[in-house]
Amino acid sequence: MAESVPLGVYVHWPFCAAICPYCDFNVHLARDTQGADWRAGYLRALSHAQGMRADGPVETIFFGGGTPSLMAPELVADILADIDRRWGLAANAEISLEANPVSAPENQLKALKVAGITRLSLGVQALDAAALKFLGRTHSVAQAQEAFAVASSIFEHVSLDLIYARPTQTLADWRRELQGVLAMAPAHVSLYQLTIEPETPFFRRHEAGKFAMPEDTLAADMYEVTQELCDAAGLPAYEVSNHARAGHACRHNIATWQGGDYLGIGPGAHGRVTTETGRVATFARTKPADWLASLANGGDGFQEKRPLTDYDLHAEALLLGLRLVEGLPMSRLAALGVPLDMGRIAMLRDDGLLARDVQVLAVTPAGRLVLDQITGAVLAG
Ligand SMILES: C[S@@+](CC[C@H](N)C(=O)[O-])C[C@H]1O[C@@H](n2cnc3c(N)ncnc32)[C@H](O)[C@@H]1O
Repeated sequence: MAESVPLGVYVHWPFCAAICPYCDFNVHLARDTQGADWRAGYLRALSHAQGMRADGPVETIFFGGGTPSLMAPELVADILADIDRRWGLAANAEISLEANPVSAPENQLKALKVAGITRLSLGVQALDAAALKFLGRTHSVAQAQEAFAVASSIFEHVSLDLIYARPTQTLADWRRELQGVLAMAPAHVSLYQLTIEPETPFFRRHEAGKFAMPEDTLAADMYEVTQELCDAAGLPAYEVSNHARAGHACRHNIATWQGGDYLGIGPGAHGRVTTETGRVATFARTKPADWLASLANGGDGFQEKRPLTDYDLHAEALLLGLRLVEGLPMSRLAALGVPLDMGRIAMLRDDGLLARDVQVLAVTPAGRLVLDQITGAVLAG
């Protein structure tokens, strides 16, 4: 029943002041925003989403990008008012927004808070000058630290993003850098290992032999150090790459990993919506101009709306749910009808890759290093 599936909204703002060479998200240079009626586009997209699922309330909203800290606060406020009018916004709704240290001046952050943002996610990426240069970042270490201090004075919930397991980074380097991050006393950190994504400048430079990625064993050791230092600092992992103090985990992402609905609004946004005829995956047009033109001409801005098969639903429930440290209750997997290979599950438990507790399907810290293989192994058939 649609009523029982929690509802969130993901709003994609596809513009940045500069494009990072490792990034394969749907991003464009900020100068392309000029002259277009973005307000009309987002509000029309919300109207179409309401046609797919009408019941609320909305519990969480995530403004991702791109760099949504570049959005006009009035636009953010108008989107939130429209969501509230259509579905109702829960009184304690979590409303997150991603920010870049040089695209988030204090007056802008204050205005975004007034607009309704409750949680800021700041892209620090590295606390090392040479690494920031390598990553194509346009801010210094000091600017990132200053932006974090300013954000923390404005928002109750602030998170930092970092990218580690970078070329030439040693285990000792990462230990020192992470200690520096934890000394800033964040309540939430997202710590991602660098991945080389196809069709990015990094992919071409890597192919051309301009830099080498760390060996898998070093990356695994770095992951272990990450768990050790974050545990000791009171920020245990609650997901593969996310760590938080109690009460600071990102509710929007948790709901997504637990199979909640999210309406995907904005160029290139993905969504998952429980409709009267079943669950549907939505994919918005990626090119900002195409997305806007579709909506302006009476279209819904979607490139595709794909009904999910039982197999899709089962595989996705495992793929997302096993990312969470608490895993998935066996009762929920049974309710979803996910066919499990109990023989393989017993073996993975014996090997220490799945938790012993038979009431849940949960991956151990050792299992998290081989999560993809585990996910593939436990689905029967
Ligand atoms: C959509 S980005 C938003 C970043 C924000 N615009 C900024 O400039 O800091 C979200 C996060 O994904 C992570 N990320 C993006 N590409 C990555 C890659 N190739 N490898 C690892 N992490 C990546 C970065 O940590 C980044 O902060």
